[in-house]
Amino acid sequence: MKNSVRAAILGMGMSVPEKVLTNFDLEKMVETSDKWITERTGIKERRILRDGENITEHAIKAAKEALEKANISPEELNLIICATVTPEYIIPSMAVLVQDGLGAKNAGAFDLSATCSGFIYGLSTAKSFVESNPESKVLVIGAEALSRKTNWQDRTICVLLGDGAGAAVVGKSPDPETSRIIDFTIGADGAYWQLLTLKGGGTCYPPFDERLPKEEYYIKMKGREVFKVATRMMEKIAFELLERNGFTTEDVDLLVPHQANLRIIEYLRERLKLPKEKVYVNIQKYGNTSAASIPLALYEAEKEGRLKRGDLVLLVAFGGGFTFGGMLLRW
Ligand code: UT7
Repeated sequence: MKNSVRAAILGMGMSVPEKVLTNFDLEKMVETSDKWITERTGIKERRILRDGENITEHAIKAAKEALEKANISPEELNLIICATVTPEYIIPSMAVLVQDGLGAKNAGAFDLSATCSGFIYGLSTAKSFVESNPESKVLVIGAEALSRKTNWQDRTICVLLGDGAGAAVVGKSPDPETSRIIDFTIGADGAYWQLLTLKGGGTCYPPFDERLPKEEYYIKMKGREVFKVATRMMEKIAFELLERNGFTTEDVDLLVPHQANLRIIEYLRERLKLPKEKVYVNIQKYGNTSAASIPLALYEAEKEGRLKRGDLVLLVAFGGGFTFGGMLLRW
């Protein structure tokens, strides 16, 4: 262990739009209530981009903070991965806009589309990259502008989503005994693709294609069906990752799950038999921000003093596709 190169998160950053949309605001837009949203999801408010504001600005801000915390200059970056399903453009990618915004002139850059599991997919790629290129530094961003793909007349989805960006710099761990990415798992099951979709605007149904109903140009979800698979898969991933690394749930210091629904998080907490203080939740403030959800939660967990060096951290995510992923870290 001592001589081998192990990747670790060296610094994190986050940025969310200032504009807050509360459940009470939503009551004026669709037939819903603060009571329904709170009881069924745990969400109280979410952040929404204003007109003219773009999510890449937040991705760049989050990245700058992560670089500063890691004490790394943009020129030292070798790779930038942006996990997103809501980039500003199809061409160019969000990652190259970030590369330009940072002046990271030595970095390759690409976007990664894996819905809510995107940040774990990105961190997994970064770990593998760093451990095979020991001096390399990788910036992983999860950034979403879901409000731009939300049907504000569809109460089954518009109460759930929010915007935001989080970033992590991954590089060689200065002390692998106490701080490293231990292991990850990523997976997918495309058989379920019809349960969570955004069909319009791709190459099957290009923008303004009249064959497709207007609501298909927004995110659609069969929530109840997704809920069932999400709970099952997240539990499976968590146990598999712990067992194959010789840990039990008692060893976990903090579970940082994808923030899609407080009831899913509570289910997972109960199955893992974790006390409340070992599970991080900030869904009440941001809603479901897809690929940004895990980095926003990790960042705030650290800021609030819920994470200390050497802690065993378990990340678990699940999203449209379906995609899923888990990661074990020593913080
Ligand atoms: O991010 C990655 C993947 N996403 C997830 O993991 C999300 C998984 N799914 C969920 O979190 C939940 O299924 C939802 C929060 C989306 C929905 O909660 P639910 O308890 O599964 O509700 P439901 O879809 O079964 O709907 C229950 C009732 C329905 O009315 P009826 O048929 O019982 O009369 C809905 O029409 O609630 C109604 N409803 C609403 N009522 C007030 C649905 N949306 C709303 C709403 N306000 N916003």
